[in-house]
Amino acid sequence: MTVNFPPGFLWGAATAAYQIEGAAQQDGRTPSIWDTFSHTPGKVLGGDTGDVATDHYHRRAEDVRLMADLGLGAYRFSVSWPRVQPGGRGPACQAGLDFYRALVDDLLAHGIRPVLTLYHWDLPQELESAGGWPERGTAHRFADYAHLVAEALGDRVELWTTLNEPWCSAFLGYGSGVHAPGRTDDVAALRAAHHLNLAHGLGAQALRAALPSRAAVSVTLNPGAVRALTDSPPDLDARRRVDALATRIFTGPMLHGEYPADLIADTAGITDWSFVHGGDAAAVHHPLDSLGVNYYAPFLVSGQAPGAAGPPAGEPSPWPGAGGVTFHRPPGKRTAMDWSVDPTGLYDLLTRFAREAPGLPLMVTENGAAYDDKPDGEGAVHDPERIAYLHAHLDAVHRAIGDGVDVCGYFLWSLLDNFEWSYGYGKRFGAVYVDYATQVRTPKSSARWYERVARTGQLPP
Ligand code: NOJ
Repeated sequence: MTVNFPPGFLWGAATAAYQIEGAAQQDGRTPSIWDTFSHTPGKVLGGDTGDVATDHYHRRAEDVRLMADLGLGAYRFSVSWPRVQPGGRGPACQAGLDFYRALVDDLLAHGIRPVLTLYHWDLPQELESAGGWPERGTAHRFADYAHLVAEALGDRVELWTTLNEPWCSAFLGYGSGVHAPGRTDDVAALRAAHHLNLAHGLGAQALRAALPSRAAVSVTLNPGAVRALTDSPPDLDARRRVDALATRIFTGPMLHGEYPADLIADTAGITDWSFVHGGDAAAVHHPLDSLGVNYYAPFLVSGQAPGAAGPPAGEPSPWPGAGGVTFHRPPGKRTAMDWSVDPTGLYDLLTRFAREAPGLPLMVTENGAAYDDKPDGEGAVHDPERIAYLHAHLDAVHRAIGDGVDVCGYFLWSLLDNFEWSYGYGKRFGAVYVDYATQVRTPKSSARWYERVARTGQLPP
Protein backbone atom coordinates (compact mmCIF):
# COMPACT_ATOMS: atom_id res chain seq x y z
CA MET A 1 0.00 0.00 0.00
CA THR A 2 1.27 3.48 -0.84
CA VAL A 3 1.74 5.63 2.23
CA ASN A 4 1.06 9.39 2.06
CA PHE A 5 2.71 11.95 4.33
CA PRO A 6 0.85 15.12 5.32
CA PRO A 7 1.05 18.15 3.02
CA GLY A 8 3.80 20.54 4.13
CA PHE A 9 5.91 17.75 5.64
CA LEU A 10 9.57 18.80 5.37
CA TRP A 11 11.79 16.40 3.44
CA GLY A 12 15.43 17.10 4.05
CA ALA A 13 18.96 15.89 4.49
CA ALA A 14 21.44 16.84 7.20
CA THR A 15 25.16 17.49 7.53
CA ALA A 16 27.50 19.14 10.06
CA ALA A 17 30.26 21.69 9.54
CA TYR A 18 33.30 19.73 10.68
CA GLN A 19 32.16 16.62 8.86
CA ILE A 20 31.95 18.24 5.42
CA GLU A 21 33.48 21.71 5.14
CA GLY A 22 37.26 21.24 5.16
CA ALA A 23 39.09 24.58 4.72
CA ALA A 24 40.07 24.18 8.34
CA GLN A 25 42.57 27.00 8.29
CA GLN A 26 40.97 29.30 5.80
CA ASP A 27 39.56 32.82 6.09
CA GLY A 28 40.37 33.32 9.76
CA ARG A 29 38.90 30.08 11.16
CA THR A 30 40.68 29.00 14.34
CA PRO A 31 40.94 25.37 15.55
CA SER A 32 38.06 23.60 17.24
CA ILE A 33 38.39 20.73 19.68
CA TRP A 34 37.88 18.37 16.73
CA ASP A 35 40.93 19.78 14.93
CA THR A 36 43.02 19.19 18.03
CA PHE A 37 41.55 15.74 18.67
CA SER A 38 41.78 14.46 15.09
CA HIS A 39 45.39 15.63 14.87
CA THR A 40 46.24 13.70 18.04
CA PRO A 41 47.67 10.31 17.00
CA GLY A 42 45.44 7.36 17.86
CA LYS A 43 42.20 9.29 18.33
CA VAL A 44 40.62 8.85 14.89
CA LEU A 45 40.82 5.68 12.79
CA GLY A 46 43.41 5.93 10.06
CA GLY A 47 44.60 9.29 11.38
CA ASP A 48 41.80 10.96 9.38
CA THR A 49 41.05 14.64 10.02
CA GLY A 50 38.49 17.18 8.81
CA ASP A 51 41.16 19.34 7.17
CA VAL A 52 39.70 18.74 3.71
CA ALA A 53 36.63 16.55 4.41
CA THR A 54 34.26 16.77 1.42
CA ASP A 55 35.61 20.23 0.55
CA HIS A 56 32.10 21.63 0.90
CA TYR A 57 33.50 25.07 1.79
CA HIS A 58 34.67 25.34 -1.82
CA ARG A 59 31.90 23.26 -3.41
CA ARG A 60 28.92 24.93 -1.73
CA ALA A 61 27.18 25.96 -4.93
CA GLU A 62 27.58 22.51 -6.51
CA ASP A 63 26.27 20.86 -3.35
CA VAL A 64 23.19 23.06 -3.24
CA ARG A 65 22.50 22.25 -6.91
CA LEU A 66 22.77 18.59 -5.96
CA MET A 67 20.19 19.05 -3.19
CA ALA A 68 17.85 20.74 -5.64
CA ASP A 69 18.38 17.92 -8.12
CA LEU A 70 17.42 15.47 -5.37
CA GLY A 71 14.18 17.34 -4.75
CA LEU A 72 14.98 18.27 -1.14
CA GLY A 73 12.66 20.74 0.54
CA ALA A 74 14.98 21.46 3.46
CA TYR A 75 18.65 21.25 4.41
CA ARG A 76 19.94 20.96 7.97
CA PHE A 77 23.51 22.19 8.38
CA SER A 78 25.61 23.51 11.24
CA VAL A 79 27.61 26.68 11.62
CA SER A 80 31.24 26.25 12.60
CA TRP A 81 31.65 28.39 15.72
CA PRO A 82 35.40 29.03 15.22
CA ARG A 83 34.76 30.04 11.61
CA VAL A 84 32.36 32.83 12.50
CA GLN A 85 33.77 33.81 15.91
CA PRO A 86 37.44 32.84 15.99
CA GLY A 87 38.54 31.74 19.42
CA GLY A 88 34.91 31.59 20.61
CA ARG A 89 34.65 35.13 21.95
CA GLY A 90 34.78 38.67 20.67
CA PRO A 91 33.89 40.02 17.25
CA ALA A 92 32.53 38.10 14.29
CA CYS A 93 34.67 36.99 11.38
CA GLN A 94 32.93 38.47 8.34
CA ALA A 95 34.45 35.98 5.88
CA GLY A 96 33.02 33.11 7.91
CA LEU A 97 29.58 34.71 8.07
CA ASP A 98 29.73 35.44 4.34
CA PHE A 99 30.10 31.73 3.64
CA TYR A 100 26.89 30.92 5.52
CA ARG A 101 25.05 33.90 4.00
CA ALA A 102 25.97 32.63 0.55
CA LEU A 103 24.92 29.09 1.49
CA VAL A 104 21.55 30.25 2.78
CA ASP A 105 20.98 32.48 -0.25
CA ASP A 106 21.74 29.56 -2.58
CA LEU A 107 19.32 27.36 -0.65
CA LEU A 108 16.55 29.94 -0.72
CA ALA A 109 17.11 30.56 -4.43
CA HIS A 110 16.45 26.83 -4.99
CA GLY A 111 13.39 26.80 -2.73
CA ILE A 112 15.18 24.77 -0.03
CA ARG A 113 14.47 25.75 3.59
CA PRO A 114 17.60 26.20 5.70
CA VAL A 115 17.57 24.57 9.15
CA LEU A 116 20.52 25.97 11.06
CA THR A 117 22.22 24.20 13.98
CA LEU A 118 24.47 26.42 16.06
CA TYR A 119 26.52 23.72 17.75
CA HIS A 120 27.41 20.38 16.21
CA TRP A 121 30.42 19.60 18.42
CA ASP A 122 33.12 21.98 17.17
CA LEU A 123 33.87 23.99 20.31
CA PRO A 124 36.59 26.59 19.69
CA GLN A 125 39.79 25.12 21.15
CA GLU A 126 40.44 28.32 23.13
CA LEU A 127 37.22 27.73 25.09
CA GLU A 128 38.23 24.15 25.85
CA SER A 129 41.62 25.42 27.01
CA ALA A 130 39.71 27.69 29.39
CA GLY A 131 37.85 24.66 30.80
CA GLY A 132 35.34 23.72 28.10
CA TRP A 133 31.78 22.55 28.75
CA PRO A 134 32.44 21.56 32.38
CA GLU A 135 32.80 25.31 33.04
CA ARG A 136 29.82 27.61 33.35
CA GLY A 137 31.42 30.40 31.32
CA THR A 138 31.19 28.28 28.16
CA ALA A 139 27.38 28.49 28.32
CA HIS A 140 27.60 32.29 28.39
CA ARG A 141 30.06 32.29 25.49
CA PHE A 142 27.55 30.13 23.57
CA ALA A 143 24.75 32.63 24.19
CA ASP A 144 26.96 35.44 22.82
CA TYR A 145 27.76 33.32 19.79
CA ALA A 146 24.04 32.52 19.26
CA HIS A 147 23.30 36.24 19.32
CA LEU A 148 26.06 36.97 16.81
CA VAL A 149 24.80 34.37 14.33
CA ALA A 150 21.17 35.43 14.78
CA GLU A 151 22.08 39.06 14.02
CA ALA A 152 23.90 37.96 10.86
CA LEU A 153 21.44 35.39 9.47
CA GLY A 154 18.15 36.12 11.22
CA ASP A 155 16.77 37.91 8.18
CA ARG A 156 16.97 34.74 6.07
CA VAL A 157 16.85 31.64 8.33
CA GLU A 158 13.60 30.73 10.08
CA LEU A 159 14.41 27.39 11.68
CA TRP A 160 17.06 27.47 14.40
CA THR A 161 18.50 24.66 16.53
CA THR A 162 20.72 25.37 19.51
CA LEU A 163 22.59 22.10 20.07
CA ASN A 164 23.00 18.79 18.30
CA GLU A 165 23.06 15.70 20.53
CA PRO A 166 24.40 17.23 23.75
CA TRP A 167 24.64 13.68 25.17
CA CYS A 168 27.56 13.01 22.82
CA SER A 169 29.25 16.31 23.67
CA ALA A 170 29.04 15.61 27.40
CA PHE A 171 29.44 11.86 27.75
CA LEU A 172 31.55 10.88 24.74
CA GLY A 173 33.59 14.09 24.96
CA TYR A 174 34.26 14.15 28.72
CA GLY A 175 33.19 10.68 29.97
CA SER A 176 34.41 7.90 27.68
CA GLY A 177 36.71 10.28 25.80
CA VAL A 178 36.08 8.75 22.39
CA HIS A 179 35.06 12.17 21.07
CA ALA A 180 36.81 15.52 21.39
CA PRO A 181 38.14 16.80 23.68
CA GLY A 182 38.83 13.22 24.82
CA ARG A 183 38.60 13.67 28.57
CA THR A 184 37.62 10.76 30.86
CA ASP A 185 36.18 12.25 34.02
CA ASP A 186 32.65 11.45 35.26
CA VAL A 187 32.29 14.69 37.19
CA ALA A 188 33.37 16.72 34.16
CA ALA A 189 30.86 14.83 32.01
CA LEU A 190 27.94 15.62 34.34
CA ARG A 191 29.04 19.24 34.68
CA ALA A 192 29.28 19.41 30.88
CA ALA A 193 25.73 18.06 30.54
CA HIS A 194 24.42 20.78 32.82
CA HIS A 195 26.32 23.57 31.09
CA LEU A 196 25.10 22.31 27.72
CA ASN A 197 21.56 22.50 29.07
CA LEU A 198 22.27 26.01 30.29
CA ALA A 199 23.84 26.94 26.94
CA HIS A 200 20.69 25.72 25.23
CA GLY A 201 18.48 27.85 27.47
CA LEU A 202 20.61 30.99 27.30
CA GLY A 203 21.15 30.47 23.59
CA ALA A 204 17.41 30.09 22.98
CA GLN A 205 16.81 33.36 24.85
CA ALA A 206 19.51 35.11 22.80
CA LEU A 207 17.93 33.82 19.60
CA ARG A 208 14.46 35.02 20.61
CA ALA A 209 15.83 38.45 21.41
CA ALA A 210 17.58 38.82 18.06
CA LEU A 211 15.29 36.98 15.65
CA PRO A 212 12.05 38.10 14.03
CA SER A 213 8.98 36.68 15.76
CA ARG A 214 8.28 34.20 12.95
CA ALA A 215 11.57 32.37 13.63
CA ALA A 216 11.35 28.95 15.28
CA VAL A 217 13.72 27.70 17.98
CA SER A 218 14.49 24.05 18.61
CA VAL A 219 17.07 21.64 19.99
CA THR A 220 18.14 18.26 18.65
CA LEU A 221 18.58 15.36 21.07
CA ASN A 222 19.55 11.73 20.58
CA PRO A 223 17.17 10.24 23.08
CA GLY A 224 17.79 6.61 23.95
CA ALA A 225 15.28 3.98 22.90
CA VAL A 226 16.20 1.71 25.79
CA ARG A 227 14.94 -1.87 26.10
CA ALA A 228 15.31 -4.13 29.11
CA LEU A 229 16.59 -7.64 28.40
CA THR A 230 13.88 -9.17 30.63
CA ASP A 231 11.13 -7.90 32.89
CA SER A 232 13.17 -8.68 35.99
CA PRO A 233 13.47 -5.80 38.48
CA PRO A 234 17.27 -5.42 37.96
CA ASP A 235 16.83 -5.23 34.17
CA LEU A 236 13.98 -2.73 34.45
CA ASP A 237 16.11 -0.68 36.83
CA ALA A 238 19.00 -0.76 34.33
CA ARG A 239 16.63 0.60 31.70
CA ARG A 240 15.52 3.37 34.05
CA ARG A 241 19.12 4.38 34.82
CA VAL A 242 20.19 4.48 31.20
CA ASP A 243 17.04 6.37 30.23
CA ALA A 244 17.84 8.99 32.90
CA LEU A 245 21.38 9.49 31.59
CA ALA A 246 20.59 9.27 27.90
CA THR A 247 17.39 11.27 27.71
CA ARG A 248 15.84 12.67 30.87
CA ILE A 249 19.03 14.50 31.88
CA PHE A 250 18.17 16.81 28.95
CA THR A 251 14.40 16.56 28.58
CA GLY A 252 13.93 16.97 32.35
CA PRO A 253 15.27 20.53 32.52
CA MET A 254 14.46 21.51 28.92
CA LEU A 255 10.84 20.35 28.82
CA HIS A 256 9.82 20.14 32.48
CA GLY A 257 12.10 22.61 34.30
CA GLU A 258 13.93 20.18 36.58
CA TYR A 259 16.42 17.32 36.74
CA PRO A 260 14.86 13.93 37.47
CA ALA A 261 15.17 12.97 41.15
CA ASP A 262 16.30 9.43 40.26
CA LEU A 263 19.19 10.80 38.17
CA ILE A 264 20.39 12.96 41.08
CA ALA A 265 20.15 9.91 43.38
CA ASP A 266 21.93 7.57 40.94
CA THR A 267 24.87 9.98 40.57
CA ALA A 268 25.06 11.04 44.24
CA GLY A 269 28.32 9.12 44.66
CA ILE A 270 29.88 11.18 41.86
CA THR A 271 28.64 14.72 42.43
CA ASP A 272 26.30 16.75 44.61
CA TRP A 273 25.21 18.79 41.57
CA SER A 274 26.18 22.04 43.31
CA PHE A 275 27.18 23.37 39.88
CA VAL A 276 23.44 23.86 39.26
CA HIS A 277 22.72 27.40 40.44
CA GLY A 278 19.42 28.97 41.45
CA GLY A 279 17.80 30.34 38.33
CA ASP A 280 19.38 27.78 35.99
CA ALA A 281 16.22 25.68 35.83
CA ALA A 282 14.17 28.64 34.66
CA ALA A 283 16.81 29.57 32.07
CA VAL A 284 16.94 26.04 30.61
CA HIS A 285 13.16 25.64 30.58
CA HIS A 286 12.61 27.87 27.56
CA PRO A 287 9.49 27.27 25.44
CA LEU A 288 10.41 25.53 22.20
CA ASP A 289 8.76 25.53 18.78
CA SER A 290 9.76 21.95 18.03
CA LEU A 291 11.93 19.13 19.33
CA GLY A 292 14.49 17.49 17.06
CA VAL A 293 14.91 13.73 17.45
CA ASN A 294 17.92 11.88 16.04
CA TYR A 295 17.53 8.13 15.91
CA TYR A 296 19.71 5.29 14.65
CA ALA A 297 19.40 2.20 16.90
CA PRO A 298 18.03 1.11 20.28
CA PHE A 299 19.90 0.00 23.43
CA LEU A 300 19.33 -3.38 25.07
CA VAL A 301 20.36 -3.45 28.72
CA SER A 302 20.35 -5.71 31.75
CA GLY A 303 21.07 -5.04 35.41
CA GLN A 304 22.67 -6.88 38.20
CA ALA A 305 20.88 -8.69 41.01
CA PRO A 306 21.50 -7.09 44.42
CA GLY A 307 24.72 -8.42 45.95
CA ALA A 308 26.05 -9.87 42.68
CA ALA A 309 29.62 -9.01 41.72
CA GLY A 310 29.71 -6.15 39.20
CA PRO A 311 31.44 -6.33 35.84
CA PRO A 312 35.21 -5.76 36.03
CA ALA A 313 36.24 -2.13 35.69
CA GLY A 314 37.07 -1.66 32.01
CA GLU A 315 37.23 1.22 29.59
CA PRO A 316 36.07 4.66 30.72
CA SER A 317 32.29 4.74 30.40
CA PRO A 318 29.87 7.30 29.01
CA TRP A 319 27.31 6.22 31.66
CA PRO A 320 28.35 7.70 35.04
CA GLY A 321 26.24 6.27 37.83
CA ALA A 322 25.12 3.27 35.77
CA GLY A 323 27.63 0.79 37.14
CA GLY A 324 26.30 -2.75 36.96
CA VAL A 325 24.43 -2.11 33.71
CA THR A 326 25.38 -4.41 30.84
CA PHE A 327 24.77 -3.42 27.21
CA HIS A 328 23.81 -6.27 24.89
CA ARG A 329 23.93 -6.72 21.15
CA PRO A 330 20.31 -6.90 20.02
CA PRO A 331 19.66 -9.73 17.58
CA GLY A 332 18.87 -9.10 13.91
CA LYS A 333 20.22 -7.02 11.05
CA ARG A 334 23.06 -4.58 11.58
CA THR A 335 24.63 -1.69 9.70
CA ALA A 336 28.33 -1.14 8.98
CA MET A 337 28.53 0.63 12.37
CA ASP A 338 27.40 -2.68 13.90
CA TRP A 339 24.25 -0.86 15.04
CA SER A 340 21.07 -2.91 14.97
CA VAL A 341 18.30 -2.04 12.54
CA ASP A 342 15.11 -1.55 14.53
CA PRO A 343 12.60 1.08 13.40
CA THR A 344 10.27 0.42 16.33
CA GLY A 345 12.73 2.40 18.48
CA LEU A 346 11.92 5.49 16.42
CA TYR A 347 8.18 4.89 16.71
CA ASP A 348 8.52 4.43 20.47
CA LEU A 349 10.44 7.70 20.88
CA LEU A 350 8.02 9.74 18.77
CA THR A 351 4.97 8.45 20.62
CA ARG A 352 6.72 8.92 23.97
CA PHE A 353 7.46 12.61 23.33
CA ALA A 354 3.96 13.18 22.02
CA ARG A 355 2.68 11.95 25.39
CA GLU A 356 5.34 13.73 27.41
CA ALA A 357 5.21 17.10 25.67
CA PRO A 358 1.72 17.41 24.18
CA GLY A 359 1.48 20.11 21.55
CA LEU A 360 5.22 20.23 20.83
CA PRO A 361 5.85 19.36 17.16
CA LEU A 362 8.59 16.80 16.59
CA MET A 363 11.10 16.71 13.77
CA VAL A 364 13.26 13.70 12.90
CA THR A 365 16.46 15.70 12.46
CA GLU A 366 18.65 12.65 11.69
CA ASN A 367 18.10 9.07 10.65
CA GLY A 368 20.14 6.89 8.35
CA ALA A 369 22.71 4.14 8.11
CA ALA A 370 26.29 3.41 7.13
CA TYR A 371 26.97 0.59 4.68
CA ASP A 372 30.10 -0.45 2.81
CA ASP A 373 29.14 1.26 -0.43
CA LYS A 374 31.35 0.84 -3.48
CA PRO A 375 30.95 2.02 -7.07
CA ASP A 376 30.39 -0.76 -9.62
CA GLY A 377 32.23 -1.06 -12.97
CA GLU A 378 30.15 1.80 -14.43
CA GLY A 379 30.68 4.02 -11.40
CA ALA A 380 27.12 3.56 -10.10
CA VAL A 381 26.57 2.94 -6.38
CA HIS A 382 23.74 0.56 -5.47
CA ASP A 383 22.74 0.54 -1.81
CA PRO A 384 19.56 -1.52 -1.43
CA GLU A 385 20.21 -1.99 2.30
CA ARG A 386 20.08 1.76 2.89
CA ILE A 387 16.83 1.99 0.91
CA ALA A 388 15.38 -0.77 3.09
CA TYR A 389 16.57 1.03 6.24
CA LEU A 390 15.07 4.37 5.19
CA HIS A 391 11.86 2.73 4.04
CA ALA A 392 11.34 0.92 7.33
CA HIS A 393 12.09 4.01 9.41
CA LEU A 394 9.86 6.27 7.33
CA ASP A 395 7.15 3.71 7.74
CA ALA A 396 7.61 4.00 11.52
CA VAL A 397 7.35 7.80 11.28
CA HIS A 398 4.18 7.45 9.27
CA ARG A 399 2.74 5.03 11.77
CA ALA A 400 3.41 7.55 14.56
CA ILE A 401 1.71 10.30 12.52
CA GLY A 402 -1.26 7.97 11.98
CA ASP A 403 -1.46 7.56 15.75
CA GLY A 404 -1.78 11.32 16.16
CA VAL A 405 1.85 12.35 16.69
CA ASP A 406 2.74 15.75 15.21
CA VAL A 407 5.90 15.00 13.20
CA CYS A 408 6.67 17.91 10.88
CA GLY A 409 9.75 16.71 9.01
CA TYR A 410 12.41 14.09 8.34
CA PHE A 411 16.10 14.65 7.62
CA LEU A 412 18.16 11.87 6.20
CA TRP A 413 21.66 11.54 7.63
CA SER A 414 23.49 12.33 5.56
CA LEU A 415 23.45 14.22 2.29
CA LEU A 416 27.05 13.20 1.56
CA ASP A 417 29.49 10.59 2.79
CA ASN A 418 31.62 12.47 5.30
CA PHE A 419 33.98 12.48 8.29
CA GLU A 420 32.33 10.07 10.74
CA TRP A 421 34.08 11.41 13.85
CA SER A 422 36.36 8.84 15.52
CA TYR A 423 35.69 6.40 12.64
CA GLY A 424 37.08 8.83 10.07
CA TYR A 425 36.08 8.41 6.41
CA GLY A 426 35.70 4.62 6.59
CA LYS A 427 31.99 4.77 7.45
CA ARG A 428 29.75 6.03 4.68
CA PHE A 429 26.35 7.45 5.73
CA GLY A 430 25.72 9.49 2.58
CA ALA A 431 22.87 9.24 0.11
CA VAL A 432 25.53 10.66 -2.19
CA TYR A 433 28.84 8.83 -2.59
CA VAL A 434 31.99 10.92 -2.30
CA ASP A 435 35.21 9.81 -3.99
CA TYR A 436 37.64 11.45 -1.57
CA ALA A 437 40.51 11.37 -4.11
CA THR A 438 38.62 13.49 -6.64
CA GLN A 439 35.74 14.91 -4.55
CA VAL A 440 33.35 13.70 -7.27
CA ARG A 441 29.82 13.25 -5.92
CA THR A 442 27.67 10.35 -7.18
CA PRO A 443 24.09 9.96 -5.96
CA LYS A 444 23.60 6.38 -4.74
CA SER A 445 20.41 4.53 -5.67
CA SER A 446 19.06 5.51 -2.22
CA ALA A 447 19.38 9.19 -3.20
CA ARG A 448 17.15 8.62 -6.24
CA TRP A 449 14.73 6.58 -4.13
CA TYR A 450 14.57 9.37 -1.53
CA GLU A 451 14.13 11.94 -4.28
CA ARG A 452 10.93 10.21 -5.36
CA VAL A 453 9.68 10.12 -1.78
CA ALA A 454 10.53 13.80 -1.24
CA ARG A 455 8.94 14.92 -4.51
CA THR A 456 5.71 12.96 -4.07
CA GLY A 457 5.37 12.87 -0.27
CA GLN A 458 4.63 9.18 -0.71
CA LEU A 459 6.37 6.07 0.43
CA PRO A 460 6.16 3.40 -2.25
CA PRO A 461 4.76 -0.03 -1.30
C1 NOJ B 1 24.68 11.71 14.95
C2 NOJ B 1 25.56 12.91 14.75
O1 NOJ B 1 24.81 14.08 14.93
C3 NOJ B 1 26.24 12.92 13.40
O2 NOJ B 1 27.21 13.91 13.41
C4 NOJ B 1 26.82 11.54 13.11
O3 NOJ B 1 27.59 11.52 11.96
C5 NOJ B 1 25.69 10.54 13.05
N1 NOJ B 1 25.07 10.50 14.35
C6 NOJ B 1 26.12 9.14 12.69
O4 NOJ B 1 26.92 8.61 13.68
